[in-house]
Amino acid sequence: ARGDALPRDLEGLRVVVSAGGTREPLDPVRFLGNRSSGRQGYAIARVAAQRGAEVVLVAAHTADLVQPAGVELVRVGTALQLRDAMHERAERADVLVMSAAVADFRPVDLVEHKIKKGDLDPDPVRLTRNPDVLAELVAARRPGQSVVGFAAETGDADTGVLDHGRAKLKRKGCDLLVVNDVGSGGAFEGEDNQGWLLSSDGTERPIPHGSKAHLASILWDAVVSGRSSSEV
Ligand code: CTP
Ligand code: CA
Repeated sequence: ARGDALPRDLEGLRVVVSAGGTREPLDPVRFLGNRSSGRQGYAIARVAAQRGAEVVLVAAHTADLVQPAGVELVRVGTALQLRDAMHERAERADVLVMSAAVADFRPVDLVEHKIKKGDLDPDPVRLTRNPDVLAELVAARRPGQSVVGFAAETGDADTGVLDHGRAKLKRKGCDLLVVNDVGSGGAFEGEDNQGWLLSSDGTERPIPHGSKAHLASILWDAVVSGRSSSEV
């Protein structure tokens, strides 16, 4: 298999990867969701396992994906469930990768019965802020733990994708940030990605257009080199 050619340079590392899109319920049958497929997170988990890591994959809603071999799968639904699963697993992890698309907001009210159409105009949906799981993980980070974030950005008239990414890296305080350029359309649901890999030490690597497995191997190379340069 292709995995046989990979280095076993993650042996001894415990990694936790989040993937997919959270779903925030409105009632028992409806939710607010997003279009994340989970493919990138699954590729990151799969490549980590192929390179020898002990991997936990915390998966929110995903496309119909094959569970990577040798990976422990934890299923979650909402942002709050994903947060609990990540904190629980982070305690004994060396590397945390937040590739999940976590809903920024959730409905305030969870209606216990299916909302009826009725004759009246609908009420607006009231939303409240979800916790920022990545920021919490960074704040709770133990010594020697590496934290990787993701950002899907589109450039606009004033600020390019890279500038958005640099600002987000600073704001989040993680060690590495994968900046996906989604302006060109592809990243969500597609098989390919491209963008930038930004390190807290100022290193900026372009991620050429390529498969999600290729992005995963670039990511793990950067984690390995970051961890070896911070060893004393
Ligand atoms: N993230 C998170 N918890 C949230 C929202 C995002 O952990 N409630 C994580 C994502 O998994 C990703 C990173 O934060 O690793 C960046 O997510 P993104 O949506 O790009 O950034 P936000 O801080 O939510 O800012 P905005 O959506 O306004 O760009
Ligand atoms: Ca967001």
